[in-house]
Amino acid sequence: MEKIIVNGVKKLRGEVNISCAKNSILPIIAATILCPESIVINNAPMLEDVEVICKLLRELNCEVDFSKIDDKLKINTSNINPIDANTELIRKMRASFLIMGAMLARFGYCKLSLPGGCNIGSRPIDLHLKGFKLLGADIIMGYGFVEVKTKKLIGNRIYLDFPSVGATENILMAAVLAEGTTIIENAAQEPEIEDLARFLNKMGANIEGAGRGKITIHGVKDLKGIEYTPIYDRIEAGTFMIAAGITNSTIKINGVNEEHLRPVIEKLKECGLVFSEYKNNSIIVDGSRIKKAVDIKTLPYPGFPTDMQAQMMSLLSVTEGTSVITETVFENRFMHVTELARMGANIKIDGRTAIIEGVPQLTACEVKATDLRAGAAMILAGLVADGQTEIGDIYHIDRGYVNVEEKFRKLGADIYRIDV
Ligand code: UD1
Repeated sequence: MEKIIVNGVKKLRGEVNISCAKNSILPIIAATILCPESIVINNAPMLEDVEVICKLLRELNCEVDFSKIDDKLKINTSNINPIDANTELIRKMRASFLIMGAMLARFGYCKLSLPGGCNIGSRPIDLHLKGFKLLGADIIMGYGFVEVKTKKLIGNRIYLDFPSVGATENILMAAVLAEGTTIIENAAQEPEIEDLARFLNKMGANIEGAGRGKITIHGVKDLKGIEYTPIYDRIEAGTFMIAAGITNSTIKINGVNEEHLRPVIEKLKECGLVFSEYKNNSIIVDGSRIKKAVDIKTLPYPGFPTDMQAQMMSLLSVTEGTSVITETVFENRFMHVTELARMGANIKIDGRTAIIEGVPQLTACEVKATDLRAGAAMILAGLVADGQTEIGDIYHIDRGYVNVEEKFRKLGADIYRIDV
């Protein structure tokens, strides 16, 4: 079992390079199923989650090759076997369920194990299935499986009750090869949806409006193989912005699309961070000024991202005054509160709201990464806690951060991984 050790309190300095977005590459890999030609994905971040979806494709008889020399991921799904996909991998990572829309579009059939809930919430799939049904698929559920089948998918108007990221992506992939036009209303607007559509359009799809609430997909007959580079990971970039803030340091972050981070940057400015010299996808973050308490409500994009909530809580734990964080996207995303409290943070939970009274100093202890972003929050807290913080269950962190200790070490942090 591995642990991450962080020795506080050190200032950070220098530059960090952000990887491509986990939440872009996962649906893009799923979308390679739509086309029987070779596809190359550049700058592929080989995160644990990416390994899982690659393994799933290999088990379905696809060719998947990653070159460490140039970070290119080559996928060819021409020999994919539309059999029932491995139960274990679907349960292991919810995003594996994203292959359903593409499988349905290519074969008119797909049977997958129902994705389990996870520790941040129950995470149902009703909106994904509602979309498939409206496109003409029959849905059979039982014995832990969901099966979708159709003779032909036909475009339709689909209204999502909630702008679910995964449902928007799955329906988008199913609709790309459907006959006629599909309109998704109240679609998720996350930059990763726009990225998926850009990838599909480059392959020959006809999608308009991705990145806005109404997406129009004109079905096409087939798609062709291409080479593509996904967008930068806005959550990784946001995590390093908070690292600058919590350690009162100034750092340069390379690989930032300022537009995608607008909700995070605006909130961090309100808190007292200063951003300058935004050019060539780089930004300088000055976290040396006195911070002030802020209130945050997580919302679908362009609101404040739920994936930045835990990291923000670490910062506010050591910011003088009372901050309030309201989590509206997932019903159980405050597990990091108990861990932060072990480090001396003063946080009270009332339903979906956390009230944080800033304390002058956190103290190091053994903590757990209770989920992916909660793990990042523990690293951030460890950077400023007095003493040595030991973070367990770090497989969660590896799901979404590439070489996390190396990146922090390059900035001057005292952080390393041990095998226990
Ligand atoms: C994606 C991201 C995740 C992020 C989340 C919200 C990926 C791989 N993961 O997850 O990092 O935290 O968006 O920004 O891109 N819901 C339903 N019915 C459905 C689907 C979702 O009720 O059929 C609900 C969920 O329970 C949750 C909310 O919608 O409360 C948001 O979920 P969703 O946007 O679907 O998140 P994911 O796609 O799973």
